[in-house]
Amino acid sequence: RTVAVILAGGTGTRLGLGIPKQLLKIAGKPIIEHTLAVFEAAPEIDEIIVLMAAGHVPDAERIVANAGFRKVSKVIEGGDTRNDTTRIALDAVGDGDVNILFHDAVRPLVSARIVRECVNALWTYAAVDVAIPSADTIIQVDRDDCITDIPVRASLRRGQTPQAFRSGTIREAYRRAEGDPDFAATDDCGVVLRYLPGTPIKVIDGSDENIKVTHPVDVHLADKLFQLAAAQAPKLSDHRSYTEELTGRTIVVFGG
Ligand code: CTP
Repeated sequence: RTVAVILAGGTGTRLGLGIPKQLLKIAGKPIIEHTLAVFEAAPEIDEIIVLMAAGHVPDAERIVANAGFRKVSKVIEGGDTRNDTTRIALDAVGDGDVNILFHDAVRPLVSARIVRECVNALWTYAAVDVAIPSADTIIQVDRDDCITDIPVRASLRRGQTPQAFRSGTIREAYRRAEGDPDFAATDDCGVVLRYLPGTPIKVIDGSDENIKVTHPVDVHLADKLFQLAAAQAPKLSDHRSYTEELTGRTIVVFGG
């Protein structure tokens, strides 16, 4: 069984809209609806659990009901931090061995290909991350904003989501983290890396389109990317999923 956990517990302070950014409409639909549609359509996904920002559970429930997403089993409140939200999700998934994919609600342009490759990689690896190479040079700075290191770019990637795990692995990593007074916020692969050292964490290729809507410019970018997808989709036989001709990446399109 494979469960997709949609992390929507944040409030989007950097976007600064006054509503959680996952509720912002892009291309006619709330961002979280685009995201849920990808997982609803993915044959590899059996169940979806939504972790929603406090006070907005009814908004998410309404979106799920209106769109008729049948795989969504629960919409519950997230936690104060992203790691808290993950912990609540682990409880909500219940016991038993399952595959769990954690995905940012605010990455609505995740593709069917990425979801499929995450789930497939779990046959071989207990933890899987999604990342892309960095076009920019990444520099490390100190508190005075002076460079302390420039790591070799070829060995760097920019992490995206989903992050996928066998449930036993992510549960055990969080169980160990709980006992650590020095626990510092990190993404879920970071919890496995720190508390289950030696666990190989496979990285699969993300995509440039799989952006995290974070700053105002991302809203325009995401809107353009959906327009591009919608304009190209009718040319192809399968209106729900097609391979972008230029890049060879798969983008899932709804309502185009
Ligand atoms: N998230 C979550 N629970 C939290 C914080 C974040 O589920 N307590 C989710 C967000 O809803 C988002 C994803 O994690 O889908 C990525 O986080 P980020 O982009 O940082 O979202 P926000 O925390 O909402 O944004 P900001 O940092 O600007 O406040």
